[in-house]
Amino acid sequence: MEFIDLKTQYRHLKDEINANIQKVLDDAQFIGGAYVKELEKQLAAFTGRKHCITCANGTDALQIAYMVCGVGAGDAVFCPDMTFISSTEPAKMFGATPVFCDITADTYTLCPESLERQIQAVLAEGKLTPKAVVAVDILGNPCDYDAIVPICEKYGLTLIEDAAQSFGGSYHGRRCCAFGHMATTSFFPAKPLGCYGDGGAIFTDDDAMADVIRSICVHGKGPGGKYDNIRVGMNSRLDHIQAAVLLPKLKALAEYEVDQRQQVARRYNDAFAGKLVTPFVAENCTSVWAQYAVLAADQQQRDQVIAHLKDAGIPHMVYYPTPQHALPVFRDEPHYGETFRNANDYCARTFSLPMHPYLEAEEQQQIIDAVLEVL
Ligand SMILES: Cc1ncc(COP(=O)(O)O)c(C=O)c1O
Repeated sequence: MEFIDLKTQYRHLKDEINANIQKVLDDAQFIGGAYVKELEKQLAAFTGRKHCITCANGTDALQIAYMVCGVGAGDAVFCPDMTFISSTEPAKMFGATPVFCDITADTYTLCPESLERQIQAVLAEGKLTPKAVVAVDILGNPCDYDAIVPICEKYGLTLIEDAAQSFGGSYHGRRCCAFGHMATTSFFPAKPLGCYGDGGAIFTDDDAMADVIRSICVHGKGPGGKYDNIRVGMNSRLDHIQAAVLLPKLKALAEYEVDQRQQVARRYNDAFAGKLVTPFVAENCTSVWAQYAVLAADQQQRDQVIAHLKDAGIPHMVYYPTPQHALPVFRDEPHYGETFRNANDYCARTFSLPMHPYLEAEEQQQIIDAVLEVL
């Protein structure tokens, strides 16, 4: 049994993927190329964004977005306490301070109330300049943008949507990657839209930001081209072969994979209702279920379930065992009195089960039975 079954997906899309890869090999065009251009066009159309700029991975996408904001020493960047380190790492890398905010008790995404409290605490202290907010659509579930956007506007903060886990999800009729001044995503193989290696993208509606992003991706190139370097940048690009893989995968995601993920999630939700805390998706939102994460009654029960799944040979993961504020790398960051109650509680009780669009009911029942045996 696979946690995320990329082999079955490949069997479904094999002819198209193979033909595209073959074309890249025949043309010997490995950097840039027609598939990259076509993919950027299709990704922008899918998300309703004016610009999509592909890059080497989701971590680079976030670093580039931070660079566009000009985040540096003396700045505060507000991030959710429960995320993968790529969302928060660039703050420290660029000499700024990541200010962690609690998550909500139900969606596990950035809590707007905690965000505003942390912004006010930073302002009251008067040492750091609030600069940006990174809202992470964790587990594939979008953040509450109706609450977060006005807070960013009120305090003049740049909003970055980290949609690494939510490509294909939606919030109030708009697709994930459509929120914030910039949005970023990852095409890591296990992501809802994954390639066969590393890949990422940055989205924006702002022409000037798009120009800066394209420049940063190519060593800070200027109007005179790649040897006219006008700013510090990096070398971050999506390989042609990865774009060739992503095009058929994007079509499958749009046509049926998002729907199939909903079916799998529904079967889990029905089976675990009243027995575990099942995921909450707000009205008019679609989670793309990058992970199907449930909460056990407490850490002890979570660990019992995990031990049983291990014995039964059923893949499982914990996303994530440690909130950001408790990671050794961030132990000296200021908390401003925030206790991270929801993030601590979530991390102690969560575990994730196999989730992918090709999970058959019969195989899923084995997973469900194994979990219920412990409960
Ligand atoms: C929330 C989040 N942001 C960013 C990233 C970074 O993406 P990548 O692995 O492509 O660098 C990940 C990857 O796991 C992620 O989960």
